Amino acid sequence: DDFEGVGVWRYADALPLNEGVSIREGNTPLYTVPEIEADVDVADVRVKHEGMNPTGAFKDRGMTVGVKVAERLGVDRLACASTGNTSAALACYGARADTEVLVLLPAGKVAAGKVAQAALHGARILEVEGNFDACLDVVAELAARGEAYLLNSINPFRLEGQKTIGLEILEQSKRETGEWPDRIVLPVGNAGNTAALYKCFRELVEAGAMAEDEMPALTGVQAEGAAPMVEAVREGREEVRRWEEVETRATAIRIGNPVNAPKALPGVRATGGTAVAVSDDEITDAQRALARDGVGVEPASAASVAGLTKLRREGEIDDDEQVVCLTTGHLLKDPDAAAAAGGDTTPVPADADGVLDVL
Ligand code: F0G
Repeated sequence: DDFEGVGVWRYADALPLNEGVSIREGNTPLYTVPEIEADVDVADVRVKHEGMNPTGAFKDRGMTVGVKVAERLGVDRLACASTGNTSAALACYGARADTEVLVLLPAGKVAAGKVAQAALHGARILEVEGNFDACLDVVAELAARGEAYLLNSINPFRLEGQKTIGLEILEQSKRETGEWPDRIVLPVGNAGNTAALYKCFRELVEAGAMAEDEMPALTGVQAEGAAPMVEAVREGREEVRRWEEVETRATAIRIGNPVNAPKALPGVRATGGTAVAVSDDEITDAQRALARDGVGVEPASAASVAGLTKLRREGEIDDDEQVVCLTTGHLLKDPDAAAAAGGDTTPVPADADGVLDVL
């Protein structure tokens, strides 16, 4: 049909299937961010805005592949644990595939827009007394008992689709700047994107399309209150220690047990990348900075720009670097956080003089 070869499916040759359950995911913009670039003061900063996907987050790239695999397997229940975006995407793609969807959410810790999406697309939503990691433990057990097909990023087909973020960044950067980026800075929760980007680069190296030393430095950012992977990178450890208690305003990455760390940590190391933790206030400042450049994102996404700003201040990033920050979800995902980060509203009477009086 006319979806063939669009967005994610333009890269079908790099994927395990040649078609998906598709609502035109991928092909997201790579924005210039002039104010942030001037503030960070490196050669080039761009933002790959994954919030511009159909459900407002990068998850769609994984679901278009994963839900098709589930369809071919003939499963009758799809399930995930989620901090919100995965549940929104799975609900949408499951609806498209006409398959039952079950989502487990940490009670009271999921942003309003995401719950609304999962509800409207018809998922069965269960609010769990526990954090995301506890939800994932439960769903993994349901899957092990044969009760559901698991579509969290531990599912390798999800990550296959998410590789296309890397392919698009390389193509768009080359087209717009003549170069591939030196560094990609991204928020880390379960470290699925970090693992997917590393696999993307490795496959390009194996195909002879990229030299080993051309792989962009994978630079992961976590919130200070949920930073087990940063801890492992900074301490030079191979194993990530699970954090039982996690807290951050960036609820999408409120995760203490990054399940893809074994695939992601070698990528951070092999590409010469690093990892850094940022405070909630640094995240909100970066969310406002992105908004001033016209890019509306949710808090977790702003962690990438907050991390770049912090690493640059700490002297870990060179003047001549060309950097791409990944922003993973749209502003409207978390309207409460956006409203809190923005300015106040002022009540006025319904006449021009009344309006002019307050201006
Ligand atoms: N940014 C956003 C907006 C997310 O929703 C997530 C993960 C991440 C970053 C982290 O990505 O896991 O590849 O390191 N959200 C999952 C969810 C956990 O349930 O929606 P990662």
